[in-house]
Amino acid sequence: MRIDVVTIFPEYLEPLNISLVGKARARGLLDVRVHDLREWTHDKHNTIDDTPYGGGPGMVMKPEPWGEALDAVRACGEDREPVLVIPTPSGRPFTQELAVELSQRPWLVFAPARYEGIDRRVVDEYAERWEVHEVSIGDYVLAGGEAAVLVITEAVARLLPGVLGNVDSHRDDSFAPGAMADLLEGPVYTKPPLWRERAIPEVLLSGHHGRVARWRRDQAFRRTAANRPDLIERCDPAVLDKNDRALLAELGWTERADKRFGRAVPSMEE
Ligand code: ADE
Repeated sequence: MRIDVVTIFPEYLEPLNISLVGKARARGLLDVRVHDLREWTHDKHNTIDDTPYGGGPGMVMKPEPWGEALDAVRACGEDREPVLVIPTPSGRPFTQELAVELSQRPWLVFAPARYEGIDRRVVDEYAERWEVHEVSIGDYVLAGGEAAVLVITEAVARLLPGVLGNVDSHRDDSFAPGAMADLLEGPVYTKPPLWRERAIPEVLLSGHHGRVARWRRDQAFRRTAANRPDLIERCDPAVLDKNDRALLAELGWTERADKRFGRAVPSMEE
């Protein structure tokens, strides 16, 4: 996979040289190219922003440097169009599903904005030729999109074939598609078996695969119910077995008439 990042802070992307992404690059699995947006300015102050039309606070990134930068990146590419990813708090939520989708694309170009964002015409222009995703990494506002580029790149890179040593490594991830879909991953333990008088759950020493799998699923349900009740609300009752139903009932969830699990609400008489 090839990834291009156009930014006014190329140093911000230094972490892409280390750890999982750095290793994937060193092994030739990932080709990352970081570009300084100011290279495509032509005035002596290398201006990349201007005041917003219609008034209001802050500055808006000018369309001309972005247009020239994206055209230049495209020009040193192959005969295919890249996918443009624009991190913005007003984008669609970045999820594991989108990470999987992006990991299947051969070429991503990131356009992280600073200030109040990029002149809208840039998105409109490239959306006519390229697949464009405006993506938010969460309901909070960062000073710019570079941190989001690091987040998205790492989530995507670890899904590329050959990047993780063990192909099963992302099978049980929280949010991984499959049997444990939409459940958070439960707790994990390693040696020593006793640490500060804290033992590890007996079942994990039993060597009994069925009981271990059951315990893991129960833990996943408990953690999901505590930390992400919205995921339990959305879960399809068809994927639940008898044990799951009993556990959810114990945790105060009931199967509602619409066949989804909702939290038991005490009735007025109680
Ligand atoms: N830029 C600023 N805040 C952001 C967010 N939450 N997600 C993606 N890009 C951003």
